[in-house]
Amino acid sequence: MEAEVKDQLVSIEKPELIAPPNWEPVIMGILCNWCSYAGSDLTGTSRIQYPPNIRIIRVPCSSRVDPWFLIKSLQTTADGVLVSGCHPGDCHYISGNYFARRRFLVTKKLLNFVGFHENRIQFSWVSAAEGPKFAKVVNKVTEDIKKLGPLHLYKKENFEKK
Ligand code: FES
Repeated sequence: MEAEVKDQLVSIEKPELIAPPNWEPVIMGILCNWCSYAGSDLTGTSRIQYPPNIRIIRVPCSSRVDPWFLIKSLQTTADGVLVSGCHPGDCHYISGNYFARRRFLVTKKLLNFVGFHENRIQFSWVSAAEGPKFAKVVNKVTEDIKKLGPLHLYKKENFEKK
């Protein structure tokens, strides 16, 4: 029964559909205010280059990231999502990032089960002093998503075409 359900759902990724020329992925970056957002700011002020594909949303803590944010992002606009927070032990709300990590792992498993490739959602720890690391993470996520191609099926227009 479970395999049957999975067979029906594993149609979200459509590798046979070719990305349009000049296609660039849209990546939703959900960053905690105190570390990763400040890290992204440092990347900018240090003039470190990173792909412009990421659209950043600032949240007070990574524990604020509701699984629904990820689902809604992939369903509407994004080809991938990056969630980033303070390093373990550095969360400004003591243990928020531990909750976030656990919730993220479960959400990732769920999204994988319904057919999203696991690289479409990624998690990282970036501190306020790690501007170069932030650029590295964004580069990696962008490369991973580019390899996967556009997330076709879940886009509204693709439903309308059928
Ligand atoms: Fe940054 Fe909690 S304040 S993860």
